[in-house]
Amino acid sequence: MPSTKSVRVFAPATVANVACGFDVLGFAIHGLGDYVTARFVDQGGLGIESITGDGGRLPKETSKNTAGLAALALLKKAGKESGANIQLSIEKNMPLGSGLGSSAASSAAAVVAVNELIGKPFSVQELLPFAVEGEMAASGSAHADNVAAALFGGFILVKTHNPPDVISLPTPSKLHCTIIHPSIEIQTRNSRMILKKDVLLEKAVTQWANLGALVAGLYTEDYELISRSLHDEIIEPVRSILIPGFADMKQAAIDAGALGCSISGSGPSIFALSISKKEAESIGNSMGSVLKKIGLEYHTHVSEINTTGAHVVKA
Ligand code: HSE
Repeated sequence: MPSTKSVRVFAPATVANVACGFDVLGFAIHGLGDYVTARFVDQGGLGIESITGDGGRLPKETSKNTAGLAALALLKKAGKESGANIQLSIEKNMPLGSGLGSSAASSAAAVVAVNELIGKPFSVQELLPFAVEGEMAASGSAHADNVAAALFGGFILVKTHNPPDVISLPTPSKLHCTIIHPSIEIQTRNSRMILKKDVLLEKAVTQWANLGALVAGLYTEDYELISRSLHDEIIEPVRSILIPGFADMKQAAIDAGALGCSISGSGPSIFALSISKKEAESIGNSMGSVLKKIGLEYHTHVSEINTTGAHVVKA
């Protein structure tokens, strides 16, 4: 093995659930995401040599780190668990516990980097279950909506994650996304714990009607149908209580022209979709003025949909 070879990979931030698709729908955005560099070393097996941008909060032990666990799962399947001496460097480039798929970005970047380094034994589809192992460590549950969007880019529908069966959906060309991230943290593990285990049949019917219609809207580039479908009957009513000013921010986004607005992943970030950059920026300002009033700091971010997903970048 050449001891100098290294691969650096970027994986983007993602919006999971997309209102009506809890655990099965997601999309990737530009401008936020993580870098993972994998390089061969002479000895020591798989390790994590550095993590930056996490404020010293993430574990460096491979068996406790999302990127480490994902890489370990890959090496195990490749039959190289004890034979590969690889060090990972993780550069976090988005806030932790924000609802923007931070752990998923690290896991996705790690599996792409290690796969590339060891000669690409797996296709991108085949990398999904490994990245999900990392996500599981972070959230306590195996869901693939963030990791699949981070790996493949664009809108994705996860039919099953193991075996990987992910459908890449079309991205309507005008779509823009506004993210507002209030400066509070919500751990996915906790925001999953408060969810009810049973769903009323009536609500389930509305939810899967919306999900089907949203998918149809993406295929037909029907922004009006997308708008009518971006509703969450089941998860948002429970989780929104954890987000100060949620109802007012959502109303402000709709009033400013959003097609729809809901919680990004497990929150606290909120996303809104619209059909131009100008609208997306004005939606961000409107949502921001709600948080200003209640005295909560926040960041806004406007992006087109990222259709590239995780990819190798120059070291
Ligand atoms: N689908 C997941 C959830 C995404 O909402 O809990 C967060 O990782």
